[in-house]
Amino acid sequence: MKSVLALTLFTLLSYVQGAPTLPRRQGGNPPLRGPSDLLGYSSDNQLTDQTTEEVPYTLVPGQKEDADLGLYLDFSNTENPQPIRGSKGGTDPGPQNPAIERLNSDKVAPPGTDHGQTINANWPMSLGRAKMGLENAGWSREENTVVMPGATAMAGVMMRLEAGAYRELHWHTAGEWALLLNGSARIQAVDENGQTFIDDVTEGDVWFFPSGVPHSIQALDVGVEFMLVFDDGFFSEDATFLASEIFAHNPKSVLSKNFDLPIAAFDNIPDGELFIFPGTPAPVDIEEQNVTTAAGPIPQAGAYSYHFSEQPAHQVAGGSVKIVDPLTFPVASNFAAAVVTVHPGGMREIHWHPSSDEWSFFISGQGRATLFEAPSTATTFDFHAGDVGYFPKSQSHYVENTGDDDLVFLEVLQADKFSDISLGQWLGSTSKQIVGDTLNLPDSALDQLKSEKQYVVAGSTNLTQT
Ligand SMILES: *[C@@H]1O[C@H](CO)[C@@H](O)[C@H](O)[C@H]1NC(C)=O
Ligand SMILES: *[C@@H]1O[C@H](CO)[C@@H](O)[C@H](O)[C@H]1NC(C)=O
Ligand SMILES: *[C@@H]1O[C@H](CO)[C@@H](O)[C@H](O)[C@H]1NC(C)=O
Repeated sequence: MKSVLALTLFTLLSYVQGAPTLPRRQGGNPPLRGPSDLLGYSSDNQLTDQTTEEVPYTLVPGQKEDADLGLYLDFSNTENPQPIRGSKGGTDPGPQNPAIERLNSDKVAPPGTDHGQTINANWPMSLGRAKMGLENAGWSREENTVVMPGATAMAGVMMRLEAGAYRELHWHTAGEWALLLNGSARIQAVDENGQTFIDDVTEGDVWFFPSGVPHSIQALDVGVEFMLVFDDGFFSEDATFLASEIFAHNPKSVLSKNFDLPIAAFDNIPDGELFIFPGTPAPVDIEEQNVTTAAGPIPQAGAYSYHFSEQPAHQVAGGSVKIVDPLTFPVASNFAAAVVTVHPGGMREIHWHPSSDEWSFFISGQGRATLFEAPSTATTFDFHAGDVGYFPKSQSHYVENTGDDDLVFLEVLQADKFSDISLGQWLGSTSKQIVGDTLNLPDSALDQLKSEKQYVVAGSTNLTQT
């Protein structure tokens, strides 16, 4: 491919210059700029010897079908994916990046039903620069409006702490909700009343720290990885208030007065942020670190953790759903979340959220979603484990499993209750006469509409079977 392009360019350039067909080497290194007779048309500038090279490619199952059918195109074993769907599109002689195109077939060859330009609803954390912790203690990667300008209500930070490592004592202006993805951690916090909190959490559990409440996280003996979701799309992990920094940026005389300690007590404080750093291992017995004061512990009803891993999933036709929202986890008063499992061939049904944007994270498997925005704009996005998705309030979307394994993803809303409107339930709960007059569906189809919300529907694992 590269050589075809180079040949074409060379042929073109040498002809325009009226030059011999070999590069002009005798003059040594050519100057940075070319001669003035390259400008515009001249009778010498007629293209000849244009070889028509065929772009070699093969189409995948479904690619020849009508574009509006919009079947999932599996480019994963395709040498040279092409922007062709049904009668639409055409070949791409390059340049292109086939590795990225193989992962994003709905961008390369979108369904014919896509139209116009929506927000960008996909950010692979794999494209986020890691912020590195000290002494190999861990890292973080973030998603916010810098990389997803349309994702204004929430931002995400993925973080790894090696065994025993800390996320330094800190606070921030946004509320922090977290889902543990791997391993386990000890979390602790002190609220504005001096009430204390400490707990151990593991893979599948969630925690929440309100804005301003100082807290820390320490990985237990297998290390930990977690996804943090903040209630502010502009949040950055670079802008948190760290214990090390508040000490580094107040006069030592003031620190001395504040704590009623000699100035020498502050001789060895860190001179900059620690952020993520190795620690002495937490004692196995959590009681050893349970500091309780006259204010007492934070009451259970206001606990900062929810042992979501212990909650069994609600089974539905195409997978399962489990919800944690303020009805069961009250301290996270504006975080309503669902972990959704979609079996191969299944699909999170077409729906929208009436009261909030949705921030989502793909935990395992792969899927695709079409974001539909009023009046007629739609984009289909492909998602893989490690990607963030974003679907603004009231804009419809589905999430279809496009792989051979279960697709597991997280939906997070800024709401006091998890809620969605199901397209199927809406139409199944509306007079057949009204639906029939509007959509011109046959009576046999109207009879099949269901008035119950499906959450996740089942389907064929052969995505090109029509
Ligand atoms: C957690 O990480 C370990 C080590 O990489 C891995 O073996 C395990 O499968 C991970 N668990 C999950 C749920 O991803
Ligand atoms: C910490 O101590 C308080 C007060 O005794 C108790 O209510 C709470 O359950 C303890 N927490 C843990 C994690 O042991
Ligand atoms: C899927 O269905 C199509 C159309 O019926 C068929 O041609 C294709 O062989 C099927 N693929 C698999 C893997 O069964």
